[in-house]
Amino acid sequence: MAVHVVGSINVDIIASVERLPSPGETILALRTERLPGGKGGNQAVAAARMGAATHMVGAVGDDEAGAWMRGQLAASGVEVGGVVAVPGAQTGTAFIAVDAHGENQIIVAPGANADLPAVEPLASGVLLAQLEVPVATLAPLFAGSHARRILNAAPPVLAATALLDHVDILIVNQHELAIFAGVAQVPAGLDAVVGHALRLVRPGQLLIVTLGAGGVVAVWPDRHLHIPAMPVTPVDTIGAGDCFCGALAALLDEGMAIEPALHRANAAAALCTLGHGAAPAMPDRADVEASLAPGFAGAAT
Ligand code: RIB
Repeated sequence: MAVHVVGSINVDIIASVERLPSPGETILALRTERLPGGKGGNQAVAAARMGAATHMVGAVGDDEAGAWMRGQLAASGVEVGGVVAVPGAQTGTAFIAVDAHGENQIIVAPGANADLPAVEPLASGVLLAQLEVPVATLAPLFAGSHARRILNAAPPVLAATALLDHVDILIVNQHELAIFAGVAQVPAGLDAVVGHALRLVRPGQLLIVTLGAGGVVAVWPDRHLHIPAMPVTPVDTIGAGDCFCGALAALLDEGMAIEPALHRANAAAALCTLGHGAAPAMPDRADVEASLAPGFAGAAT
């Protein structure tokens, strides 16, 4: 089978800073990097490194950055035949600040991602999408596909509520959970997260909430499973959620049961925080399997 990732492709401009700026403040970066990113691209790289045949469907500009991103994805083992170059558009760009504790702020200029054209529905495999591309493109794709449909509802675009009836697995973080569940307060603590999740999850659906250092909780309408995070000292957390999504899609595509797949995707996300940036930090399958062995201690690379 295969994982089909439909989503954004961005060039990430990453500024490492001592601390994140306050509103109105100018600060100096310690260093800057240009790295491949975008939630879609990151998830595709994560899936490919977990061993899945991975097809990327997305849009770049007809510019140098677009050609560079296509090359970066292909070099990571992602099949890029579904990546279109939009005439006259700029490739998406994310401006990212990362502080000394690995916390980040991200501003995305969507560029060509906003012009992703219609995508043919899928007959099989795994469909994985996020919300940095138009909901109008995703809606008929999710409604018409017979693949296993996974939506990472990030960033939290409320128009995507219309999609939720056509999603088999929904993945959100705590902030996105609060927004889609329609509650003002971001849930603190596992009981509150599960309570909010039960408001959102549909019959027959699995809702997964990623909790950062708190691990993940998988919520079905009648039960839940919490998996604590693997203890690591992060370099940065950019793309860790993407890593979880891509790894999970790959493992489900190969036929793994949900519980072992959740454990591995959770471990992959922790390993992702040990490297700089998003796509370049995605771990490969062997590293994820090794991290599950007793006595593993995560170390920065
Ligand atoms: O999730 C991380 C990603 O969000 C970055 O790579 C950036 O491009 C934005 O899309």
